[in-house]
Amino acid sequence: MSPILAILVVAFFLYCVTTSASDPDPIQDFCIPNPKFGSIKTAHNGSLPCKNSSEATTDDFVFSGIKGAGNFSDTGLAAISVNPAIFPGINTLGMSFVRADLKVGGYNPPHFHPRATEIAYVVQGSVYAGFVDSTNQVFARVIEQGEVIVFPRGLLHFLMNVGDMPTTIFGSFNSQNPGLQKIPTAIFGSGIHKELLEKAFGLSPKQIEAMRRRFNPKRVK
Ligand SMILES: *[C@@H]1O[C@H](CO)[C@@H](O)[C@H](O)[C@H]1NC(C)=O
Ligand SMILES: *[C@@H]1O[C@H](CO)[C@@H](O)[C@H](O)[C@H]1NC(C)=O
Ligand SMILES: *[C@@H]1O[C@H](CO)[C@@H](O)[C@H](O)[C@H]1NC(C)=O
Repeated sequence: MSPILAILVVAFFLYCVTTSASDPDPIQDFCIPNPKFGSIKTAHNGSLPCKNSSEATTDDFVFSGIKGAGNFSDTGLAAISVNPAIFPGINTLGMSFVRADLKVGGYNPPHFHPRATEIAYVVQGSVYAGFVDSTNQVFARVIEQGEVIVFPRGLLHFLMNVGDMPTTIFGSFNSQNPGLQKIPTAIFGSGIHKELLEKAFGLSPKQIEAMRRRFNPKRVK
């Protein structure tokens, strides 16, 4: 192998290693965003200036907001996403988490997180849970209290409470900003031209209109 080829091969592997990484590695112990310099809500990229670490307190690293369920949506799901916007202590640490509660029969429709793998632990109850891989193979079954399921990064997944009591799930992500796209809303609630949707789904204009009304997040209730 010529030296130039060898260098190119090494450079390619280094490129693969760096581009397969998730969030960037921290370059300091922690970085509590300094509220003086703006809101983390609009700067998930982690480049907000940090508080001087000598001003950090224990309370910056403790979160008390998932003792109870959040507000339930009309699918019977209450999810509290705990990211640096509400828990500044995890900023730049490459992870975040969620508490999800499902009423009996409640569900989290097919969705995916473009930037994170998710591990979900069933704290209470039993759920039908699973994901679909990129060959459209489905991996799903009922998981019970104490069991864990993993949803690989970027793959479609879903949950439904199939027990006779409310379910609580704790999910954790290997990104501080996993991102969330719910399939029904992304497709029917996003303003994609209806002619394309009619063709893609083989539905009539009337049926597409009904789906758009149902999944447009800005619809009047
Ligand atoms: C990250 O967000 C901050 C605040 O919005 C912005 O000033 C900065 O340019 C962003 N950095 C990158 C690399 O996008
Ligand atoms: C952080 O705080 C310490 C102690 O108050 C101080 O000595 C240091 O200069 C501060 N660092 C910065 C970058 O402001
Ligand atoms: C639930 O809704 C109330 C009223 O809109 C709001 O004040 C509260 O912050 C919400 N709770 C959560 C966990 O989002």
